[in-house]
Amino acid sequence: MQAGARGITCAKLGEAEVMARAGIRDLLIANQVVGPLKMARLIDLARISDVIVAVDSEANAREIDQAARSAGLTINVLIEVDSGMHRCGTAPGEPTLTLARRVLSLTGLRFRGVMGYEGHAVALADRDLRVAGCESSAKLLVEAAEYVRANGIPVEIVSAGGTGSFDITGKVPGITELQCGSYATHDRAYREIGVEFENALTVLSTIISRPAPDRVIIDCGRKSCAPDHGMPAVRQRTDLDCVYLSEEHGKCNVLNPSCPLGPGDRIELIPGHGCTTINLHDEFYAVREGVVEAVWTIAARGKSR
Ligand SMILES: Cc1ncc(COP(=O)(O)O)c(C=O)c1O
Repeated sequence: MQAGARGITCAKLGEAEVMARAGIRDLLIANQVVGPLKMARLIDLARISDVIVAVDSEANAREIDQAARSAGLTINVLIEVDSGMHRCGTAPGEPTLTLARRVLSLTGLRFRGVMGYEGHAVALADRDLRVAGCESSAKLLVEAAEYVRANGIPVEIVSAGGTGSFDITGKVPGITELQCGSYATHDRAYREIGVEFENALTVLSTIISRPAPDRVIIDCGRKSCAPDHGMPAVRQRTDLDCVYLSEEHGKCNVLNPSCPLGPGDRIELIPGHGCTTINLHDEFYAVREGVVEAVWTIAARGKSR
């Protein structure tokens, strides 16, 4: 935020609550908030922030509207448009316009615009395919916004994008904001497809066994390093290849038998996926030139409700 971001995108209500309590007002929950328990929390959140929430159905819009009106508030909404990922979202064109009209008719809601997410294309390894997929997704979203505008409804926000598409989606005329997050720490999977941010995130791990010359076992498994986007890389070591993570153990092949490492030695792992790895830890140790300068609480970890 100090570097100029005007707001923060969150996936979950629980994460947005953490951000709001830290004083960040401009929040997008790029997800649907559904059900009576969450309505009560959304109302509390709207009292301390300018939260915007995604909707893709009339039923959900009505639920939020009713909660907002009972509390004497107005809640900001974006319509989530399915711009090709086929996850949540209304189809572009008439279905999006229809929902926009419904939202406008609900006095507890304030229609702010549309959002999409090109998750099907954001991590494509082939740059040309990634550019084509992300551009066509962003264009679908922008066209959906233009169709709503052409029918007399102002659309202020057109939000999309991720770390793999910041320089693609971000250049499509009509996109007004990006939802990227991974770039801040980066990870192996994004780095491997050529997204050139620095890997700032590592998991410090100890070798607990070298049962064979060609194998070391570390104390880091899936409970410390998320495997959903592939195995971690071992930082600054070309002689170790991490090939398997079980719950509490990691197995690395030793590629060079003269590798001197054994029990007690430490290695740093660059996680395959930063988001799901960070969610496993309570603290960041902020290190500069080998010195821990700060310990930061990861306050939004586990806030998946
Ligand atoms: C809706 C939405 N927007 C944006 C992102 C982008 O995140 P990242 O910067 O990690 O690619 C995600 C990732 O899951 C997402 O689900």
